[in-house]
Amino acid sequence: MPILLQNGRVVTADSDGICDILVEGEQIVALGRHLPVPADTTVLDCTGKIVVPGGIDPHVHLEMPFMGTFSSDTYETGTRAALHGGTTTVIDFVLQKQGHSLRAALEEWQGRATGNAVGDYSFHLAVTDFNENTKAEIAEIVAEGITSFKAFMAYKGSLMIDDAQLIGLMQEVKKHGGLVTAHATNGDVIDSLIAQHRAAGQLAPLYHYLSQPEVTEAEASGRFADLANYAGTEAYIVHMTCEGALNQVRHATRRNQRVLAETCIQYLLLDASLYQHDFEGAKVVMSPPLREKKDQTALWAGLNQGLVQVVGTDHCPFLWEQKLAGKDDFSKIPNGHPAVEHRMELLFSEGVGDGKITLQRFVEVTSTNAAKIFGMFPRKGTISIGADADLVVIDPAKKHVISAATHHMNVDYSAYEGWEVTGKVETVLLRGQVAVAAGETKVAKGYGQFIKRSKTAF
Ligand code: URP
Ligand code: ZN
Ligand code: ZN
Ligand code: ZN
Repeated sequence: MPILLQNGRVVTADSDGICDILVEGEQIVALGRHLPVPADTTVLDCTGKIVVPGGIDPHVHLEMPFMGTFSSDTYETGTRAALHGGTTTVIDFVLQKQGHSLRAALEEWQGRATGNAVGDYSFHLAVTDFNENTKAEIAEIVAEGITSFKAFMAYKGSLMIDDAQLIGLMQEVKKHGGLVTAHATNGDVIDSLIAQHRAAGQLAPLYHYLSQPEVTEAEASGRFADLANYAGTEAYIVHMTCEGALNQVRHATRRNQRVLAETCIQYLLLDASLYQHDFEGAKVVMSPPLREKKDQTALWAGLNQGLVQVVGTDHCPFLWEQKLAGKDDFSKIPNGHPAVEHRMELLFSEGVGDGKITLQRFVEVTSTNAAKIFGMFPRKGTISIGADADLVVIDPAKKHVISAATHHMNVDYSAYEGWEVTGKVETVLLRGQVAVAAGETKVAKGYGQFIKRSKTAF
């Protein structure tokens, strides 16, 4: 049955106006004012509402084995929570196990995702051991629609690769038209600072923050950009937090290099003062850590200057009980925090509502740019005829309060507990189906599909 979204303010990265949207099957089939209403059509009155493309969060970790445990959202709970906040597609990171193949890791992730996702998803492949065998697997992985790869420049002993492997990965991925992304922090320096703090008996969450000073991120971001420049490949820096790293991107753009950057909602809105509160700070122990006000200012400016193209989340929740593993030693606190559900509402409220970014910039950084960078555009990331009908209806005036008591993520706290946001995601369509309406999930586990991606088109 067709669905007509009538009379909403429809906003894309390059248009903004009152418009009707006709949806048939999985796609948008007509756009225009006062569209005729075919028989049997369900009409959604969007008067006074804003309609934007379904959000894309290209940085999540669902049910990820990490630091001796698993992140607490499954494909089911994580993608469902994402839908409630207007994010219709997520990209998760498959983590190769050192000493094993890329294929084995991919199959493990497929096993967790297939039949369980509620919303759409795709994968990046994190190569944690680049050698002749894994090198030979890259071409095939790209051909299967997994066109982006990740290098960890930290977490030595589990995920980190060295610079020799990094340059090899860049060269090989370039050959096949893929994109290399990086967790760009200096793992050796961080490990040394962690050891110094532990030796001095400095064991509170605050020392997680103090073990990852800005220089560890700025240095690695610059190194990553320089090596990508040498290899002649595009580069994408995930979860950028600070002015020093952003300046490395700025520097690279001056030589006309394409270094793309993603920040995450928490780095725009939260700061390192949260680490002062004894063990409570464990809720925001993540890597890289939260930074300072001057970094938030730099990142907002970076969004407006086009140096930072994407706002993701690095959604990687752990239950409080899991965080307690680091009660006596910050280095054992599982790194990560929950955010996938509230990325869009927070950015709408604090970014658009507060005048820091325009509504069109909001659409770009929550959806369109990620679709382009990661090879899903124009199927995803925009509102046009033939695109997937992934649509988010926002009531721009409606206020609500974020709380762990009402969110859908499988985690028992929120870093945004008690925050009042203005602007509420009311209705969400995913591939032509109403997925969320008035706070209720309307699609079942298994509705979410794997999205095969093409090569980068940004
Ligand atoms: O703290 C974080 N970010 N946990 C997830 C893994 C990563 O580094 O992205
Ligand atoms: Zn909400
Ligand atoms: Zn990371
Ligand atoms: Zn991450």
